[in-house]
Amino acid sequence: MLVLGIESSCDETGVALVDTSASPVPRLLAHALYSQIAMHQPYGGVVPELASRDHIRRVLPLTQEVMKSAQRTLADVDVIAYTRGPGLAGALLVGAGVACSLAAALGKPAMGVHHLEGHLLSPFLSADPPEFPFVALLVSGGHTQLMRVDQVGSYELLGETIDDAAGEAFDKSAKLMGMPYPGGPHLARLALGGDGAAFKLPRPLLHSGNLDFSFAGLKTAVLTQAKKLGTELESRKADLAASTQAAIVEVLLKKTLAALSQTALRRLVVAGGVGANALLRSQLNAACQQRGIRVHYPELEFCTDNGAMIAMAAGMRLQAGLVNLDALRSSYTFDV
Ligand code: KG4
Ligand code: ZN
Repeated sequence: MLVLGIESSCDETGVALVDTSASPVPRLLAHALYSQIAMHQPYGGVVPELASRDHIRRVLPLTQEVMKSAQRTLADVDVIAYTRGPGLAGALLVGAGVACSLAAALGKPAMGVHHLEGHLLSPFLSADPPEFPFVALLVSGGHTQLMRVDQVGSYELLGETIDDAAGEAFDKSAKLMGMPYPGGPHLARLALGGDGAAFKLPRPLLHSGNLDFSFAGLKTAVLTQAKKLGTELESRKADLAASTQAAIVEVLLKKTLAALSQTALRRLVVAGGVGANALLRSQLNAACQQRGIRVHYPELEFCTDNGAMIAMAAGMRLQAGLVNLDALRSSYTFDV
């Protein structure tokens, strides 16, 4: 089966086509992505109304681009998948509305995919996909979760953030240091020239005894430190960036290792935008190598939001026999 996937939950419009006849996982035939980051940058964050409008502008041209590069037509598509949430309501409605309308016009089923399942299964887009079961660290701009993944569709939440997500902690700290949105990659770049031990910042919930996270207090501590530095902030920015990154990464690392020992699993998947962070990757790699644990990451281009992960998650669900296509074909109702 050919599965078209559409992602529109936040500020990236992504479209992709996978083929489920490939084994052991679907094969990516083509994908296209449009990032709205430049459009939102002057506002210091995503403006939901602008995001929805831009998804509308981009989604069909991207779909045409994908079909052309895969040398297929929409008539060849068997299932149309879309992100059903979580995300910005108006943005999600664009993807869902377009997917369901196309599907209804073509007489094909439309299926909603959970955005986080897309991130979780994004490492299966790489040439060396993981095997089940594994622990997944899902770190994005909106979520921070540790999961036990036994099979496609079989997920156990081990712990999650009780307030801000790790990406949010990066972005908010970067913003108050004057960096453009989204600040995570900017902060990481600046941190390369700084000392991670220069400022003592809190490691929230590090010794909580469970696998939950809390990052809201860290942002406040960074703000307090920035205020204390006053005019000195400019010259100490790299040190403050490095100290912020060190605090976030240490908590993510320690909790992930605790999840691995608690579950006794030997494989780790790291997904979501913060999974692109080089310090997080190097520390996880070193700690896991020491313990004989394999770590899998999505390709860098599939760490942040994209259509390929949505098409892949839909394709893997179809391959696992978890989808009732007849039910989907007979009803195009959606609830984002
Ligand atoms: O997964 P994603 O595209 O969006 C959500 O679903 O939320 O992740 C975006 C997040 C942003 O917070 C961004 O700052 C962060 O990922 N991010 C990074 C890096 N690259 C992206 N954070 C730290 N270091 C990076 N290299
Ligand atoms: Zn995401």
